[in-house]
Amino acid sequence: MSDVTEAPSGAESAADDEEIRACVIGAGSSGIAAAKELHQRGIPFDCFELGERVGGNWVFRNTNGVSSSYKSLHINTSRERMEYSDYPMPKSYPDFPRHDHIARYFDDYVDHFGFRDDIHFGLGVDHVARRDDGRFEIRLTDGSERVYSHLIVCNGHHWDMRWPEPAFPGSDTFEGEQIHSHQYEEEAQLAGKDVVVLGVGNSGMDIAVDASYHARTTYLAHRRGAHVIPKYLFGKPIDQIGGSERLPGPIRFAAMGLMVRLAQGKMEDYGLKKPDHTLGHAHPTISGRILDRLSHGAIIPKPNIASLGTDTVRFDDGSEVHADLVVYCTGYKITFPFFDDDFFSAPDNRVDTYKMIFPPRIDNLYFVGLVQPLGAIMPIAERQSQLVAEHITGAYRLPSRPEMEHEISVRRQKTEKRYVRSKRHTIQVDYDDYMKELRLEIERGGAGARALTPA
Ligand SMILES: Cc1cc2nc3c(=O)[nH]c(=O)nc-3n(C[C@H](O)[C@H](O)[C@H](O)COP(=O)(O)OP(=O)(O)OC[C@H]3O[C@@H](n4cnc5c(N)ncnc54)[C@H](O)[C@@H]3O)c2cc1C
Ligand SMILES: NC(=O)c1ccc[n+]([C@@H]2O[C@H](COP(=O)([O-])OP(=O)(O)OC[C@H]3O[C@@H](n4cnc5c(N)ncnc54)[C@H](OP(=O)(O)O)[C@@H]3O)[C@@H](O)[C@H]2O)c1
Repeated sequence: MSDVTEAPSGAESAADDEEIRACVIGAGSSGIAAAKELHQRGIPFDCFELGERVGGNWVFRNTNGVSSSYKSLHINTSRERMEYSDYPMPKSYPDFPRHDHIARYFDDYVDHFGFRDDIHFGLGVDHVARRDDGRFEIRLTDGSERVYSHLIVCNGHHWDMRWPEPAFPGSDTFEGEQIHSHQYEEEAQLAGKDVVVLGVGNSGMDIAVDASYHARTTYLAHRRGAHVIPKYLFGKPIDQIGGSERLPGPIRFAAMGLMVRLAQGKMEDYGLKKPDHTLGHAHPTISGRILDRLSHGAIIPKPNIASLGTDTVRFDDGSEVHADLVVYCTGYKITFPFFDDDFFSAPDNRVDTYKMIFPPRIDNLYFVGLVQPLGAIMPIAERQSQLVAEHITGAYRLPSRPEMEHEISVRRQKTEKRYVRSKRHTIQVDYDDYMKELRLEIERGGAGARALTPA
């Protein structure tokens, strides 16, 4: 592993003579996908990474200080759906490997394609400003400044804790401990305690299951029901069943909903709330273990938290329990600490980008991995990166600004119509449909660029 911390020497000179040089913020699974596409096309770039390793979220106790990984974390999108198209995960890996396998896979990917020397570890991007000539002035965490022609943002969107808003009455005087799922690392934090876990996303599932083995009692509070999707159906990882660019989303989800219902019955049978939506209209909650632990009485379902006493939690149904620890599994905020808010921000997690990549008002700025898929992020980040790299080389051409703004507005309306209204669903995409959309966009933009190329 490289421990390069020196800022690159080529950046200033590249800017001075108007050459192309890209900056990639972050070397998580999205940043390395972007870096690989640049590397393969010979586009000069520097990738800055706060931590000492690639892999971001998947590096347990990452020195970057922002990984949400915990000791028991396994992927919930299966190995074959999560791997990059040109670098399969080892067949010796299980279907749902643990975080350290995944982190090693990302490390191997970088070495396989040979661009580790372009990643500057332990060096973050502190501030970005746009110069009058359209270039990006980057201040790094060591105080040095660099200028780049293109900027690819891959800083992740699962690290900035979203606490309940507004805070529950009594949370300021509760004498037990309150943590966010981001701060959960290992079972010892739960051992012997009366624990209330809030939220039925994937963090809530995993932490409630861990608590069910280590805490004294485990309560799972939720304000809305979720369809819990098992990891396997018919002996196959569930995300490998029926996924295809050719099958329309509504058909895929209706069939999946029926199969899951036949296999597991109703959520209410396990004491959970009845979901107020059908499958495919919320980010999937995947767990092979939660229903089993509920059925054993090892997890006690509860409605939403109403208030906290000094050592108690009261729920919406009026019931009250003793609590030593409340774990808020209430999701994340999308933030870009290196941008001034008036330059680019995501208020209430709303992001205005064409094809979920290109902000129409800021040329040569790109976001990779800034999607929340019903499926894995990595192959999506890879395809987004291809589009970005093709744009930098001129092989892909964007439509006009009004066309981009129209697409953004239509997408937002569709997203709001389809998904349960929640800040967790602002950047939601369907894996198969969005992958197809990107493929068609590469073809369309490519044709557009070719049409403009003089014969
Ligand atoms: C607990 C948990 C489990 C998950 N499980 C799955 C799963 O099974 N499958 C799936 O597809 N997705 C899963 N996700 C979603 C997760 O976002 C992706 O797996 C993946 O981590 C996204 O990669 P990324 O590179 O976009 O972001 P990250 O992994 O967050 O990486 C971002 C990188 O950018 C760096 N960085 C940030 N700011 C700066 C800066 N200013 N300067 C320099 N570097 C910076 C960080 O240090 C980090 O290395 C999970 C998320 C969580 C929280
Ligand atoms: N590999 C894995 O096994 C794994 C494990 C953990 C996380 N992840 C991934 O990490 C990402 C984040 O997941 P997450 O579970 O941390 O967050 P999330 O998906 O955003 O879920 C947040 C949960 O908290 C609830 N919530 C939010 N604010 C609330 C409030 N004020 N009061 C009551 N409930 C509230 C939400 O309910 P509403 O629906 O009503 O908003 C939802 O149930 C997702 O992509 C997920 O797939 C994966």
